[in-house]
Amino acid sequence: MNVEDVVQWVNNLIVNKTGEHLTPLQEAILTGVWQRQKYPQIAKEFNCSESHVKKEAAKLWEKLREELGEDLNKFNFRSKLEKKHIVSNISHLHDSLLQIDNVICGQFIQNIKNAETRSPFPPDSPQNKNQSPIIDLTEAPELPYFYDRTSELSTLKQWILQAHTRLITVYGLSGIGKSAIALKLIEQIQTEFDYIIWLSLTNTPTLSTLQTELKQFFGRSQQPPLPTIIDYFRTSRCLVILDDVQNIFRSSQLAGQYLAGYEDYGKFFKQIATSSHQSCLILLSWEKPREITALEAENLATRTLHLKGLGEEAAEILREKGLADEEKWSELITLYQGHPSWLNIIAATILELFDGSVSLFLADGSDLFLGDLEPLLETHLERLSDSEKKALYWLASQNEAVDISRQAADSLLSKSEFWQAIQSLARRGLVEKVLVGTRSKFQINRVFQQYIQSK
Ligand SMILES: Nc1ncnc2c1ncn2[C@@H]1O[C@H](COP(=O)(O)OP(=O)(O)OP(=O)(O)O)[C@@H](O)[C@H]1O
Ligand SMILES: [Mg+2]
Repeated sequence: MNVEDVVQWVNNLIVNKTGEHLTPLQEAILTGVWQRQKYPQIAKEFNCSESHVKKEAAKLWEKLREELGEDLNKFNFRSKLEKKHIVSNISHLHDSLLQIDNVICGQFIQNIKNAETRSPFPPDSPQNKNQSPIIDLTEAPELPYFYDRTSELSTLKQWILQAHTRLITVYGLSGIGKSAIALKLIEQIQTEFDYIIWLSLTNTPTLSTLQTELKQFFGRSQQPPLPTIIDYFRTSRCLVILDDVQNIFRSSQLAGQYLAGYEDYGKFFKQIATSSHQSCLILLSWEKPREITALEAENLATRTLHLKGLGEEAAEILREKGLADEEKWSELITLYQGHPSWLNIIAATILELFDGSVSLFLADGSDLFLGDLEPLLETHLERLSDSEKKALYWLASQNEAVDISRQAADSLLSKSEFWQAIQSLARRGLVEKVLVGTRSKFQINRVFQQYIQSK
């Protein structure tokens, strides 16, 4: 990521539209904001007053807003540009302001020239490596910060680039960072693909709607159009990210069961996993689809990553929030399991109630404080089946991990119902398998345990 390119790109844009160049202070503001500096720091380095920086910055954001139709400001400038992958494509895009406008307006990112001249060589030939892919991240969320995930990213890269895994599911609790890690992954491996598209299932598109959308995307540069998605997956290297996949699963049922009318998604996922092609489909979900376990068991180019909290790197979240008492951060991170969203929310509470003092927040050492986390936790519990609720409430009453071969939740659940419930709760990341001595046992996530006990 080169800040000079960014400044030059903005300068070119303004010159082309208004004939005026950026002022040296505006350049310093762009550079500083890109490097996550605050206005007082930029003012100090530029040797002027903070109010002068603020005034000049306001003019700059206004100008950019007018030119791009995008509401840019100091908080979102970097993430908007990074998300659209302008930086990585900048050198190719210099000569085409029209393309840049399209990118910024969030319509479509494509390097048309590259696409048209691509492929005198087969798609996976080295000659094709390092070309800019055609990317559409219009439906991806905006995530300003990203820390760590080194080991998870290297696992995903190994699966995709070395093991040629065709279907990957990343599942985990809401807010754990599934979308964030997928965005980072795209940034790191984009040159290995010809097409990259992000689609959200939030509005529960039918499979046929989704396939039409995919075909339109791939078809924009491939003429004549190919009959099926798998044809595109064979002829090009496509990376497709389906986000919010839990929306096509039923509530009040065991995890990963499709809504009525959406069962064909299961067949589609299976086809992606079992057919021969050179592409990859990544599913981001709160729950693991049921058939994935069977595909994995047969070792069919299918992998699953259960995304858990950040480690000590979560301290960066607390630093960014401006919390005090660094010696207590590690305790806070452990209590809230390094869960980025939970830590963001709890950090806001600590600022609100204790002016940022983590020591005061942790002082009485009694029950884990949940506060604004409760609605998030509830959205997970609302989706459970009756048998899962029974099993989970029973687990919440246990003081330690349990051996499920010995204990049933209560007389209302048969052994088979209990085991299925535990399996399903694990597929939602609410129950975890832990090794106690030589035996695997199951325990409820401690934050959920606290929530259930407090209800
Ligand atoms: N590695 C990270 N470093 C810093 N912040 C992170 C990281 N991962 C996630 N976050 C922050 O946590 C929040 C939730 O992340 P994200 O949206 O990726 O979660 P998610 O698992 O996709 O949630 P959902 O299932 O609800 O879509 C965001 O504000 C994001 O910026
Ligand atoms: Mg998400």
